[in-house]
Amino acid sequence: MDSQSHTTWIDVADAAEIPDGCAKEVVVGQWVIAVFCDGDDYYAIDGMCAHQGGPIAKGQLSKTDRGLTCVTCPWHGWQYELATGIQTVNHQPLQRVFPVRRSGDRIEIRVDE
Ligand code: FES
Repeated sequence: MDSQSHTTWIDVADAAEIPDGCAKEVVVGQWVIAVFCDGDDYYAIDGMCAHQGGPIAKGQLSKTDRGLTCVTCPWHGWQYELATGIQTVNHQPLQRVFPVRRSGDRIEIRVDE
């Protein structure tokens, strides 16, 4: 990864590629990142589960007790809040999250090392 991409928004998808409730897995530098759409909101979270590396982008979305959107890893069911990467059982921030925004029809993320 070049130094410029550490501080700039990186175009990773067309919004049409990520329907509501779904994700696209993208690779940016050393990171595999799951980019989710939840209604009008987008989230970018480490795409490899902190447990054993399961594919977070293939996880289902649901709501936590606090009304926050979380993803359930398809391999063994660990759940993470999309906005924070916090694991819902031990409440630790186990998954890194990344800034994400919609710019027109494009989805952009930032990966600051
Ligand atoms: S790899 Fe995700 S819960 Fe085990």
